[in-house]
Amino acid sequence: MISSISIFIWIKSTTDYYCSFLMKISKGGTKMRNKQRKSSSLNFDAGCRSSLSFIVWSLVGVALVVCFFSIVRQADTRQNHIYFRHLSATRELEEIEEEHFRMPPPHKVNPRAVKRRGPRKAPKVIDQYLDESSAIHALFFPDERTAVNPTKGGNDSMYFYPGRVWLDTDGHAIQAHGGGILYDHITAKYYWYGENKDGPTYQAHPKATHRVDIIGVSCYSSKDLWTWTNEGVVLPGEPNNANHDLHKSKVLERPKVIYNDRSRQYVMWMHIDDANYTKASVGVAVSNSPTGPFSYLYSFRPHGFESRDMTIFKDDDGSAYLFYSSRDNTELHVSPLTKDYLNITVAMRRILLRRHREAPAVFKLQGTYYMITSGCSGWAPNRALAHAAESIMGPWETLGNPCVGGNRFFRLTTFLSQSTFVLPLPGLPGTFIFMADRWNPSDLRDSRYVWLPLFIGGLADEPLDYSFGFPSWSRVSIYWHRKWRLPESWKRYT
Ligand code: GAL
Repeated sequence: MISSISIFIWIKSTTDYYCSFLMKISKGGTKMRNKQRKSSSLNFDAGCRSSLSFIVWSLVGVALVVCFFSIVRQADTRQNHIYFRHLSATRELEEIEEEHFRMPPPHKVNPRAVKRRGPRKAPKVIDQYLDESSAIHALFFPDERTAVNPTKGGNDSMYFYPGRVWLDTDGHAIQAHGGGILYDHITAKYYWYGENKDGPTYQAHPKATHRVDIIGVSCYSSKDLWTWTNEGVVLPGEPNNANHDLHKSKVLERPKVIYNDRSRQYVMWMHIDDANYTKASVGVAVSNSPTGPFSYLYSFRPHGFESRDMTIFKDDDGSAYLFYSSRDNTELHVSPLTKDYLNITVAMRRILLRRHREAPAVFKLQGTYYMITSGCSGWAPNRALAHAAESIMGPWETLGNPCVGGNRFFRLTTFLSQSTFVLPLPGLPGTFIFMADRWNPSDLRDSRYVWLPLFIGGLADEPLDYSFGFPSWSRVSIYWHRKWRLPESWKRYT
């Protein structure tokens, strides 16, 4: 910036000098010729002045452009610096991995039936994927035989396999859907909280969305993010009281927990709803221990607005924020929490208006806030978008689809999953774990986890909302991998 200003000052003073020098010469020349042609001096002066001022202003323009690009470059160099520092540790994970699976052939159509009924529209791949009996479905929900099993060890140890059944240390499938992770400095452990959906899936009425009765919020602990010990249901449902928010007939989704350093309490926020998703509220619970039990406090509509998919984010300075999809999921709202994290403050900003985004997952790198969201298509997967903001309260700009690799179908469906949380990896700034759910609407308890490496670095590749097309943010990239593990250097920080 300073160098650009000095270039600017130098250009300006040099041009000023030459300008006055040329003026002197021209004046001298004209004086001599004035003997014959008197009036021309004025014309030449004016012409010289206007062309010189044109040159000066052109140079000013050039200097400003140089200045602008030097700022952009500086920001980018800073990002690249982070990017390259960890490149060797994460190089493997930043390689583009194509996915070439062959879709099973469509069902054969009887030509006589076509004659009778006329041609039928071929079912969309996504509908086949959602149909439990289809071969495509089986491809993305491999059975227990391929389960990730931390008790087994062997060559597959520490490898994440997005979409496979993931067992806990007791050998049971992990039940922590729509979840999030808290790192607890006191116990030096990670805690994964999520919806326990280990019950039968049903529809309350033919048009209703598939559901599982509330069982509660599960918690799992781990030191290495791969081996998870079941800490039980830390916020159980209320099976008997039909008026309670947590009665089994209601909806409890997307629980997230943060630690309050002042009150020394673990505070859980969640989406609370009725079976028809008309209550559209947030719920709050607290505990003195990361493993519960959590006491349920209340639910409410933030600032009186509908709140469905939501998340909370704790900033470096201890302030915390609630993000929620509102107004029929057409927009998101962001609101700071009170100091005890048990409520919201009066401040609120509406962001991503008319964008129809949900499943927000917020994270931060070097003073910039980022967010991944999904579109609104219920349990069916859709295209993710990455967003960024200088201030957490906005404005938030949209960067584009963060998914890299796989194939087009994968990238347009967030690898057949929906965002829920983004976990920063300590010691590897710019490297995160993207956590998502691969929902199985016909058997929600069998929904899978898609964890993939997420990186921030390089220039964004799509025009932005508010920046007149100048990409000024770093790109957010989620890399597809069939199988991957955290870099070796990660161990040093656990
Ligand atoms: C999704 C939402 C999930 C769940 C589901 C119900 O859009 O992200 O958390 O609410 O709809 O259909």
